[in-house]
Amino acid sequence: MSTATLPTLPTLPPDLIEGIDPTAETLVREEGNHVVYTLGGKTFRLNKDKARERIAGKRVINGHRSAELNVLPLKYHEAYRIYKQMKANHWEPDVIDMTKDCTQWNSNALSPKERWIIEMGVGYFSAAEGIVGDSVLHVIEDNLSAAELKHASLRHIAEESIHMDSLLHIIGSLNIDLDEVTARFQDIPSIRRKNDFIMRSMPELKMGIDLTKTENKQKFTKALFGITQVMEGTQFYALFAMILSLHRQNKMTGIGQMFQYTLRDESNHIALGRFLIQQLVQENPDVWTPEFRQELVDFMKQGVELEKEFVRDCLPEDTVGMSQREFLDYVDYNADRRLAGVGLPTLSKVKDNPFLWLDEVIFLKKEKNFFETRVTEYQTSGSVTNSNEDDLI
Ligand SMILES: [Fe+2]
Ligand SMILES: [Fe+2]
Repeated sequence: MSTATLPTLPTLPPDLIEGIDPTAETLVREEGNHVVYTLGGKTFRLNKDKARERIAGKRVINGHRSAELNVLPLKYHEAYRIYKQMKANHWEPDVIDMTKDCTQWNSNALSPKERWIIEMGVGYFSAAEGIVGDSVLHVIEDNLSAAELKHASLRHIAEESIHMDSLLHIIGSLNIDLDEVTARFQDIPSIRRKNDFIMRSMPELKMGIDLTKTENKQKFTKALFGITQVMEGTQFYALFAMILSLHRQNKMTGIGQMFQYTLRDESNHIALGRFLIQQLVQENPDVWTPEFRQELVDFMKQGVELEKEFVRDCLPEDTVGMSQREFLDYVDYNADRRLAGVGLPTLSKVKDNPFLWLDEVIFLKKEKNFFETRVTEYQTSGSVTNSNEDDLI
């Protein structure tokens, strides 16, 4: 797609071109008294004066709200780009072939330590994905005012539903006792503490707080940071890495494939959260006091401690191809990436990623279209179902 039309923009006021990413597949140009948008292969013509007026009213929070959820005129192009990236990564859990996983699960193919990792993965993520989805819906999306930000956030929520669905597919396929999974989530202290820590501030934010007050803007910013950078960005990664280490050893590859897709989604959720925090702070400099910045760093520090306790529960000692030390370092490494991403000081001395291979897995361009590669499996019995799976729904 040509970008030759972009240079015509300077005659517009600076806020009309704010956030334009030249690499995004969105073109904006002026044509007489109209602003013309080309996006998603379509063209939209907007009255220039009205477009200016609407853009001037757009804010991350406390901006113009409309019942129409009309994303045009776009102000936050980066959010729309992330939305398109999320959409391009779309996948369906229940077509992932679980046959090999079932065989391995019902034989001695896994050591007790490896089995435990899978059980912890199912126990933790079966509820954690729902916590994120619910928090993005009732805390983040609800408090955002610009339509394109809400739009991207709605896609985030939909992806959390896909992740929850993937857990149901695993539980149903492996015939894992759902009561035991639930009990594990409630009874294992490290899991409970991790989730209580993130959930603590959510009830108040779900009530609809006055976001014109600095104190409340900070609470909202902290929730954004907590969900997307601490929980999704730091507390999800070590266990994902353990399961993908098994996948690398050709163990539980159906689950591994689902976690690979999930992790790729999470990288977009983190990017969206980071963008929202950056924009919010830019528009509301009163939020970003030295005390508040320190509060966020301390929050991450606590999240890291809880996560390390959880990692020690998941992997009490080293096993084939997995060193506990490396997973603990990976927690520090991710925490620092998230802090630096929003302009906060880092916490640890871990500068190198202990799992470079994992980044390659996450950021690998999808070599083939998901649906094209899955057509055969859609038509055969790639998805293992049993009577218990119906009981879950
Ligand atoms: Fe998720
Ligand atoms: Fe997520």
